[in-house]
Amino acid sequence: MSQNLFPDTPFLHGLTYMPGFALGEEAELVRVVLAVVKAAPFRRMKTPGGKEMSAAMTNCGVTGWVSDAKGYRYARRDPLSGEPWPEMPDIFRSLAARAAAVGGFAGFVPDVALINRYEPGAKMTLHQDVDEQDFSAPIVSVSLGLPAFFLWGGPRRTDKPARLFLESGDVLVWGGAARKFFHGVAPVKQGVHRLTGAARLNLTFRQAL
Ligand code: SIN
Ligand code: FE2
Repeated sequence: MSQNLFPDTPFLHGLTYMPGFALGEEAELVRVVLAVVKAAPFRRMKTPGGKEMSAAMTNCGVTGWVSDAKGYRYARRDPLSGEPWPEMPDIFRSLAARAAAVGGFAGFVPDVALINRYEPGAKMTLHQDVDEQDFSAPIVSVSLGLPAFFLWGGPRRTDKPARLFLESGDVLVWGGAARKFFHGVAPVKQGVHRLTGAARLNLTFRQAL
């Protein structure tokens, strides 16, 4: 179920690719996302520079990742509603813990799932996940719906990223030396997926607090 990608290339150590790891749960995961979105709808956040991100986002868990003119940060309440984010569903916590364990990080307890929705054309430019307080916990990333190329870079923004084709049910885990490596998503191609329609969903599990 797990393989170390391209072991001879410099920056792929620390990334565990688990094709189809969540395939048996994908329909339920999508249903649970729709339930979260009823309470905390997808929205396109603005970067600190004032640009609207092309992926729409929401969160569940005890905190949530947010971005606006004041910067990137975690907030315990949804700025749209002023309410706490929806609770992390058990199926999310359990999947994240099982995947992390396979990736070498037993005992992972995520306190947030950032949920991204990419419509065709949407992308995520190369970035680091560095707003969390403790980098000893890994990142667990679950893809659902339309496929996309994941861009896996290195410790520097200028490191040329590898392209990894992610399909619905695929899971990635990265941590340790790779925890702060640059990564992103190439523009999602037009398409229709039986579970999500014209969209790709990504769940990013983190221990933020
Ligand atoms: C992210 O890095 O926040 C999203 C990654 C993805 O959508 O696969
Ligand atoms: Fe990220």
